[in-house]
Amino acid sequence: MHKQDNNSPINILMNEHEVITSAIDIALKADSLIGKNDELYLKVATELLSFFRSYADTIHHKKEDIILFPEMIRKNELLKGGVIKEMYENHCDFHTMINNTEQYLIKKDYLRAQQQLHIYAEALLDHIAVENEEVFQIAESVFDDSELETMYFRFIDIDRETIKPELENIVQQIKEYF
Ligand SMILES: [Fe+2]
Ligand SMILES: [Fe+2]
Repeated sequence: MHKQDNNSPINILMNEHEVITSAIDIALKADSLIGKNDELYLKVATELLSFFRSYADTIHHKKEDIILFPEMIRKNELLKGGVIKEMYENHCDFHTMINNTEQYLIKKDYLRAQQQLHIYAEALLDHIAVENEEVFQIAESVFDDSELETMYFRFIDIDRETIKPELENIVQQIKEYF
């Protein structure tokens, strides 16, 4: 289990995973709107894409891509080719999946858009599970407390320049459309 320390960078990432998972839950349920209320489907899917781009792909993945993963590799070069490589590749694939979903939304092909959104949502759930159960455990074993604390403050600095709380509220708002 991850450390319960208040200044834990891993707790920040795990809390963000929870917010992303709530957005994934909505994405997986959005099917029900297609054919019944296409206008609302378009609104929900557009807002979800915007959330995934700015929160998951930017605020969250930035912490992993430019801080956590490079620092882990610096501690143990062997990690570069294993699970960390897989995580980097997943982040890259997620951009493509989001763009694919958007292309179908633009064409108003909501069934295919939803199909793509499902693929993304399932892949992101798997990715989050690997990070929670494997990557974060490795992180806590390679860093000492002071390194973890330094990382925590670097994460806080990233968040300070974003609209993270507003984005977290957006997920709550989208839930209320249903
Ligand atoms: Fe990730
Ligand atoms: Fe993550």
